Amino acid sequence: MREFAGKTAFVTGGAAGIGLALGRAFARVGMNVMLADIETATLTAAVKSLENPETSIRGIVCDVADPSSVERAAQASFEAFGNVHVVCNNAGVAAGGGIDNISLDNWRWVLDVNLMGVLHGIRSFLPHLRGHGEGGHFVNTASMAGISGGLGLSPYTASKFAVVGMSEGLAAQLRPFGIGVSVLCPSYVRTGIGESGRNRPPRYGSAPVLDPNSPAAAMVAAIAASLQAGLEPDSVAARVLEAISNDEFYVFTHPNMREQVDGRFAAIQAAMDKVDHGPKVAISGPG
Ligand SMILES: NC(=O)c1ccc[n+]([C@@H]2O[C@H](COP(=O)([O-])OP(=O)(O)OC[C@H]3O[C@@H](n4cnc5c(N)ncnc54)[C@H](O)[C@@H]3O)[C@@H](O)[C@H]2O)c1
Repeated sequence: MREFAGKTAFVTGGAAGIGLALGRAFARVGMNVMLADIETATLTAAVKSLENPETSIRGIVCDVADPSSVERAAQASFEAFGNVHVVCNNAGVAAGGGIDNISLDNWRWVLDVNLMGVLHGIRSFLPHLRGHGEGGHFVNTASMAGISGGLGLSPYTASKFAVVGMSEGLAAQLRPFGIGVSVLCPSYVRTGIGESGRNRPPRYGSAPVLDPNSPAAAMVAAIAASLQAGLEPDSVAARVLEAISNDEFYVFTHPNMREQVDGRFAAIQAAMDKVDHGPKVAISGPG
C-alpha cells in the first residue's frame, strides 16, 4: 500500500506504547485513525493527543480477547469512516512464569489477548477488506520472542510464535487479493508492557506471587531494565509505515538480535542436515 492520505487505520492496544505510536504515525501521513483499547482513561487521552485539523481520530473501548467486543469495534469503525485499510492487531500483554511456576490463569490470559486477539481482528476485518477491493494491510504485532525462544517456557513466547506462524499463513493466502500482511517483531521497546497486570481482568485470577529469590523474579527484573533502555515506540512505528509501503512481511527493529536468530536457525539447519540422506516420502500438499 503506497498511498496513505485519506485512508483509515484501526489499531488495537492503541492507547499507549507501540499502538499509540502507530496511531501517531498514521495520523501524520493523513490517515483517519480508530484507536481500540481496554483502558478507557488512557484511550481518551490518546485520542486527544492525536487530534489534528487534517484527519479524524476516534477511540473505542475494546477487549481483544472477546470476539464480540472486537466485532463491535470493527462495526464502529465502518460506521465512522466507511472503508478501513490498515488493521494493526497490536494489543498484547506479558506475564511471567517459568518451569517452577506454571500458572494456567497466566497462560489463558496471555494466549487470549496475544493470540486470540490477533485472530479476532483478522476475523472481523478480513471480509471487509476483501469486500471493498481498495487494497489493505494487516500488521500483526508479534515480537522477537516469536522468532527465538529466549524467554524460556512462557505463554508470551508461545503466543508470539503462534502469531508469526499464523501471519505467514495469512500472507500466503491474501497475496492474490492484493492485501498485504506484516508481522512486527521488535525486541525491547520503552513501553508499559512490564506493567501489563494493570489490564488483567478478574476472570484470569490474580498474578502468581514470585519468590523474590527465584530465577523467574530475576528474569522479570532484567526484562524491566531492558524495557527502560529499549527503543522509542515512534521509531518502531516509522519502521512499520515503511514496511506497509514496501509490502515487507517480517518487520525487525533491533539489529542486536541477529546473533540469537542466527543461533536458532543454525541449529535448525544442522538438524535438517542430519536427515538429508534419509528416505524421502512424497508430499503432495503444503509441507
Ligand atoms: N515493549 C516491548 O518491548 C515489546 C517488544 C516486542 C513486542 N511487543 C508487543 O507490542 C505490543 C504492544 O505492547 P506495548 O509494548 O506497546 O505495551 P503497552 O502496555 O505500552 O501497550 C499495550 C496496550 O494494549 C492494551 N491492552 C492490553 N490488553 C488489552 C485487551 N485485552 N484489549 C485491548 N487492549 C488491550 C493496553 O491497555 C495498552 O494500551 C504487544 O503485542 C507486545 O507484546 C512489545
